[in-house]
Amino acid sequence: MQTPAHAAASDLNLLETLAAEYGTPFWIWDSSVLRARIDAVVSTTEAEGVQARFAMKASPATKVLKEIKKAGVWIDSVSGNEVLRARHSGFSGGNTPPEICFTADVFRDNALATVLEEGVLPNVGSPGMVADLQKAGYTGPISLRVNPGFGHGHVNECDTGGPSSKHGVWITEANTVREAAEAAGMKVVMLHAHIGSGPQFDELIDNLSHLADEFAKIIPQFKDVEAVSLGGGIPHDYRNPEADVPVERLGDLFAESQRKLSKVAGRELRLEIEPGRFYVAPAAILVTRVTDVKETETNKKGPGVTFAMVDAGFVDLARPAMYGSFHRITLPGAKGRESKPVVVAGPLCESGDVFTRDDSEMLQPRELPSPQTGDLMLLHDGGAYGYSMASNYNSLGRAPQLWLENGEVTPFTRRETIEDILRLEVS
Ligand SMILES: Cc1ncc(COP(=O)(O)O)c(C=O)c1O
Repeated sequence: MQTPAHAAASDLNLLETLAAEYGTPFWIWDSSVLRARIDAVVSTTEAEGVQARFAMKASPATKVLKEIKKAGVWIDSVSGNEVLRARHSGFSGGNTPPEICFTADVFRDNALATVLEEGVLPNVGSPGMVADLQKAGYTGPISLRVNPGFGHGHVNECDTGGPSSKHGVWITEANTVREAAEAAGMKVVMLHAHIGSGPQFDELIDNLSHLADEFAKIIPQFKDVEAVSLGGGIPHDYRNPEADVPVERLGDLFAESQRKLSKVAGRELRLEIEPGRFYVAPAAILVTRVTDVKETETNKKGPGVTFAMVDAGFVDLARPAMYGSFHRITLPGAKGRESKPVVVAGPLCESGDVFTRDDSEMLQPRELPSPQTGDLMLLHDGGAYGYSMASNYNSLGRAPQLWLENGEVTPFTRRETIEDILRLEVS
């Protein structure tokens, strides 16, 4: 499949009009891009017995969740409040079918109460969580997240499988946890793992096939299992987001895994997947204003740099500061200008508030058309783990999110204000 270009990316008039109305920075979502990606994931689940979920932590806004719901995709949530946000967006509670799965490393705050009240499927990621559920009086079905001993995410910080990953129950312990769950009156109805993808599609296919094989080995011990989840991790190409993505290969793999696992189990199983990033990454752009351009000089500590100072920071888009992640940067008003290496830095009182970094955390000047004060600058592909990881550090307040559909733009979250920030203070 090919992802359409974001319609606002080259429409400087529109962006300036929105900047005048909403201020900068702001997020602009393109509904067509989001829907194309949702359709692409759904196309991989056409075979009987294959079901997609959306890992909603990538972008939990009601506006996005309603698009997901419309497409018949279910939810993977990771906190009590995410469960409640999914319920608010129209997803059903209960287990018939388990539209909302609740994957937890730790039960915190309202997590256990939400499992009990909403009847959603808890996906247990640690042996002691069975006892937590029992203590809370839960006797419903559970899912078991295993660590199969291999796999990794898009960067080293996202370690999703293997001895150094905190996620899941080590696969050889899974049967003991099942026995403990059964003794406490809970049936294990799903086996789950999310091992991440690495940045390459081929690696994802290899990892997922390997994972299905590992599940096939243990499934005979799990007589009540109705479903197996291969997790998420469909990679998004941040450098070339419109490149063709061979999603059909995934469709074939999912159909084949469903058949293989059902055969080993001796009954029809549901095969689940739960990508997050792939649905939403290219659908949102962070629009920021260049507020100044300044230089440092080369000395014995290192080379001089051109800084483009912008009004967005890691409070808006944390991924570059957090993981050294690459996001394309464009200046739609700077066509024809000569390019130069530029470091793009934000307003936060933190030297690490820099968007142009690499995964060794160093400044990584980017070749950009020479920026000028007043330019609008776009940070692309921020729909996944962008706004959802935003904070109000430095009391800046989260930027608004706008929705573009058929040429019309409407806000769906407003700018966070000082009143919002102060509202939490109780004395
Ligand atoms: C349990 C689980 N499922 C799904 C996902 C979604 O991963 P991605 O956004 O890479 O598809 C994650 C991400 O970390 C996860 O931890």
